[in-house]
Amino acid sequence: MERWTGRVAVVTGASSGIGAAIAVALVKHGLKVVGLARRVERIQELTKSLKSTKGELHALKCDVSKEKEIKEAFQWVKKRFGGVDILVNNAAVMFDSSLIDGDNDEMKTMVDLNITGLNMCTKEALKSMKERGVDDGHIINLNSILGHAVLFDGFCVYTATKHAVTALTEGLRRELVKQKSKIRITVSMTSYALTN
Ligand SMILES: NC(=O)c1ccc[n+]([C@@H]2O[C@H](COP(=O)([O-])OP(=O)(O)OC[C@H]3O[C@@H](n4cnc5c(N)ncnc54)[C@H](OP(=O)(O)O)[C@@H]3O)[C@@H](O)[C@H]2O)c1
Repeated sequence: MERWTGRVAVVTGASSGIGAAIAVALVKHGLKVVGLARRVERIQELTKSLKSTKGELHALKCDVSKEKEIKEAFQWVKKRFGGVDILVNNAAVMFDSSLIDGDNDEMKTMVDLNITGLNMCTKEALKSMKERGVDDGHIINLNSILGHAVLFDGFCVYTATKHAVTALTEGLRRELVKQKSKIRITVSMTSYALTN
């Protein structure tokens, strides 16, 4: 991890769960981390607890399903730090939304955040890497076992968004190879811990 000391990471959905844990781990490894979320005050709390660590955690309010807010967030990162070296696409929502009588707004929210938001952040991060000649950048997509199999009744829209993450990761990998880019794309295979 030494080579990442002082470099800049953007973590989406850093206000709770896995995103918060990733942000903290990166800060402890000396990175400058910008955590995006709507509940920005939660990231600010984390920032206070990381005062004596090597890296820095900066909280930025951003709805990652909104193009304007994403563009503003990446502009802020550019102004403040020059640009992004690592993007962790973590923010996602999961609703139990039946395709027969599920809530249309919930279905749209999942697609807007889990797919479109991820795509827009990826584009902004790649633009930032390319304009600064950063060829060792890294995009990390948080996926799920549901990105590979349909397992739970009622969760097929969420499952579809995670299948999309699988396809988008492989698609971007191929595009980067074609461009002879050394920028990496990684996808996680997180498993759900379900309690019955
Ligand atoms: N936990 C698991 O067992 C598990 C299993 C498989 C995959 N995953 C994947 O791992 C990732 C993290 O999961 P988690 O369980 O840690 O999630 P979580 O605790 O529910 O946290 C979700 C994060 O996403 C953010 N978020 C939600 N809507 C947002 C929006 N519109 N704009 C910006 N941020 C938004 C939330 O922040 P705000 O609400 O403050 O905006 C929060 O920080 C997700 O991609 C999930 O699909 C998790």
